[in-house]
Amino acid sequence: MKILVIGSGGREHALAWKLAQSPGVEVFAAPGNPGIAQVGKCMAGEPREAAEAIGADLTVVGPEVPLVAGVVDEFRSRGLKIVGPNRAAARLEGSKIFAKNFLTKRKIPTAEFVTMENADEARAALDRFGFPVVLKADGLAAGKGVVIAHDRAEAEGALATLTGKLVIEEFLQGREVSFIALCDGKNVVPLAATQDHKTVFDGDQGPNTGGMGAYCDAAILDEAQTREVMDRVIRPTVEATGFTGFLYAGLMMTAAGPKVLEFNVRLGDPETQPLMHRMTSDLAPVLLAAATGGLSGVQLEWRSGPSVCVVLASGGYPGAYETGKPIQGIEAAEATGATVFQAGTRPSAQGVETAGGRVLGVTSGGADLPAAVASAYAAVRQIHFDGMHYRTDIGRKGLQRYNIRNVGT
Ligand code: AMP
Ligand code: GLY
Repeated sequence: MKILVIGSGGREHALAWKLAQSPGVEVFAAPGNPGIAQVGKCMAGEPREAAEAIGADLTVVGPEVPLVAGVVDEFRSRGLKIVGPNRAAARLEGSKIFAKNFLTKRKIPTAEFVTMENADEARAALDRFGFPVVLKADGLAAGKGVVIAHDRAEAEGALATLTGKLVIEEFLQGREVSFIALCDGKNVVPLAATQDHKTVFDGDQGPNTGGMGAYCDAAILDEAQTREVMDRVIRPTVEATGFTGFLYAGLMMTAAGPKVLEFNVRLGDPETQPLMHRMTSDLAPVLLAAATGGLSGVQLEWRSGPSVCVVLASGGYPGAYETGKPIQGIEAAEATGATVFQAGTRPSAQGVETAGGRVLGVTSGGADLPAAVASAYAAVRQIHFDGMHYRTDIGRKGLQRYNIRNVGT
């Protein structure tokens, strides 16, 4: 079976790496990256042309941008099998206002909110919420269109940077969980829960990024919580939209139960890295089932120990950063037993060099969370590039149970 992965980041490297382990599967990527090139063939040009050129049996879409642009509709109109939502369903991620109105209409728990036509209208509405308050740009913003303002001055400053329509919403307190389910339009298979680390600095400080690290651990949600998320969030959404592909609910586990912070219509990045690392099921047949309405009765299996991914970022990220820095130590890191997923890299004369903000996702497992975290950071310490920075506290919420703070220093 020939499977094409659309995208070029760490999430796509993890997917390609996992699919390459499926018996009889040949992996292709459009456009891919140097890490993906180690497990599959990278194709230039439009994804649909690539799929037709290789005679792909199945395509799976990584990032949101092609989904929101309608790549699934395009593939299906040509009779090509693909895992992902159509353009209409992708609005759950493409527009925060659409998503909030959908959640309200379907009585799915989420933060109280108002929508605003522009920043001036929003300024006038600030007082209704008190502080902290959450300000969100309506459209796609690569994880950076959300500002949590702690006082009026911060809110005014943020409003000066956010353009177009906005959502203002209630600040929710609790533990944040990424809950992803694979859907075939009717049937739903939950993946294991993960936890992302959105801010750039340790202790959840600093501006939001696309995600600085994630871990996957059975302890993140118990069975009752998983059932509640499935019953109150995931199933009602799939019933109402006929969703196909990966539905990702960003949740706040509040005292009043799970509430939806956002929907994504794809796998998370970096959540996919520990998910693929920890999954023991053969993924290719499951994806094929998702593309053909065959997920009834399918379940996914996981190793009992957790997996942890630490993102290594370019100096300056999530702000401006330089590229072209030579990367050393990937092989040494993998010699410790870790897997290094490549995100913002490109080939250079010496090997690979930096080409993006989030450069690598160093991923490892262990018998328990402290062991998995220690193992990931032992591998991180083998890698170097100019300006490299990373959080030293990935897994912190889970580690609190063990009375452990940082092991990554
Ligand atoms: P979003 O892209 O909507 O998930 O927002 C990015 C991040 O901002 C989330 O992962 C949360 O950490 C934070 N956030 C978003 N909405 C809220 C909220 N209503 N209350 C508290 N934190 C939030
Ligand atoms: N890690 C968050 C996201 O993929 O949106």
